Amino acid sequence: MEFIREYADWFYLIGAVLFILTLRGLSGPKTAIAGNRYGMIAMAIAVLTTFFVADNPVVWMILAAMAAGAVVGIARARTVPMTQMPETVALMHSLVGLAAVLIAIAAIIHNNKLIELGPDLLTANGITFHEMSRVHLFELFVGCFVGAITFTASVFAYGKLAAKKWAKTISGAWVKPVQALIFLAMLGFGIHFFLSGNMTSFWAMTGLALAFGWVWIAPVGGGDMPVVVSLLNSFSGWAAAGIGFTLENNMLIVAGSLVGSSGAILSYIMCKAMNRSIINVLFGGAMGGAAAPTAAAGAQVQRNYRSGSADDAGFLMSNADSVVIVPGYGMAQGRAQNAVKELANLLKEQGVTVRFAIHPVAGRMPGHMNVLLAEADVPYEDILEMDEINSDFPATDVVLVIGANDVVNPAAKDDPNSPIYGMPILEAHKARTIMVIKRSMATGYAGLDNDLFYNDKTMMIFGDAKKVVEDMTKAINGTGH
Ligand code: TAP
Repeated sequence: MEFIREYADWFYLIGAVLFILTLRGLSGPKTAIAGNRYGMIAMAIAVLTTFFVADNPVVWMILAAMAAGAVVGIARARTVPMTQMPETVALMHSLVGLAAVLIAIAAIIHNNKLIELGPDLLTANGITFHEMSRVHLFELFVGCFVGAITFTASVFAYGKLAAKKWAKTISGAWVKPVQALIFLAMLGFGIHFFLSGNMTSFWAMTGLALAFGWVWIAPVGGGDMPVVVSLLNSFSGWAAAGIGFTLENNMLIVAGSLVGSSGAILSYIMCKAMNRSIINVLFGGAMGGAAAPTAAAGAQVQRNYRSGSADDAGFLMSNADSVVIVPGYGMAQGRAQNAVKELANLLKEQGVTVRFAIHPVAGRMPGHMNVLLAEADVPYEDILEMDEINSDFPATDVVLVIGANDVVNPAAKDDPNSPIYGMPILEAHKARTIMVIKRSMATGYAGLDNDLFYNDKTMMIFGDAKKVVEDMTKAINGTGH
């Protein structure tokens, strides 16, 4: 074990390189599995090295915590359905935030007496406690408040995504002044703690940071929650990096920074996909809230639409030259990916060109549709991103929309009053024929009516995604009823 202690920095370096390779691997579907493996090895190296590097570790406590974490982690990983992944991720971020707060508190309590002396007095008292330098107090201050904000904000994001009653969106003129007040007070106490090491200020800062996390995220509308979750991912990384400084652990600093920066980049990409700025998402009020009145108004007007059967649709598709399938949240909800793949294969056998069009925020988490289609073994070359496929829609015979709604809503292009105006969409409305599988005329996540469903070229096929797609396959096979 002396060996590990002696070469700890080398092990950490190997771990850091593997974490970088992890991110690189996760950037493409073909390399994602290898990326995951690198991540697992890196994490094992990091945990084991840290275990042997620690001074006088309380071994039973560490092992008990690891065992408890492993049991909960494995149980959750085995049981969580794909549709509940976003809220699970949000909940996991909350734990990183909580860990940052607890470590900051532990570090401070550990040195409580010394802190009360004041940082400047430490050396005067002959105590060489370099951790209590101003730099250290600054790390604790930042690590703790970022962690506390991440914790409550992530708990709220979890509640919101899991549709819990307690996660209520707040709105009103009072919200912004209250946010500003709490933030400034938090900063004030934090700076006082930083300058004086005063414990009361530390507790006040932590309490206010916890409150701020909640009031900061609570006004954000449901449609913007994915960006928030990705941003909290970034925050949890920075909080971890902060803890890394506190614990003087280089591995944690590197891993935290990687999570922090990749989360920030992902948030930026998602904002771009929704045509929104990050400031607008976080401080622009509730998109979901703004959407509600429009949806209600839409519901009052009776509009005509055309509906057809799975058999008709199957017949039309098998006679088409090109079909583009647009999957959305409904495909995930209906667990229809395997049935969809079978349908695609059958159409291909009939000489039809079949491709899949993926919107960056289709479903409920980044990459949701890619994961499902990969699970069903759809070839990667058949899966196209929004920018790659949009120009092909006008020359496409049939677009088959499966449980997607907001991501094909033309209001984002045509209606300046729409809450989603400006968001890039898959331009399915430009195809020659559009078929939409969903269970009713209900709205999607943003709560908006969708003109595409009332388009002259559109045929609605009502039913559960999996059942309808299976019926289409049967119809094409000639075994339909
Ligand atoms: P949505 O706009 O939410 O529409 C999904 C549609 O699927 C619904 O209109 C629903 O209509 C239908 N559906 C549900 N279950 C079904 C089933 N079993 N069979 C058939 N249809 C079913 O989905 P989208 O187009 O994928 O857009 C995603 C939305 O979620 C965007 O607004 C996005 O901002 C938001 N969001 C995205 C993320 C990420 S990162 N991807 C995270 C959170 C939120 P019926 O009820 O009539 O069946």
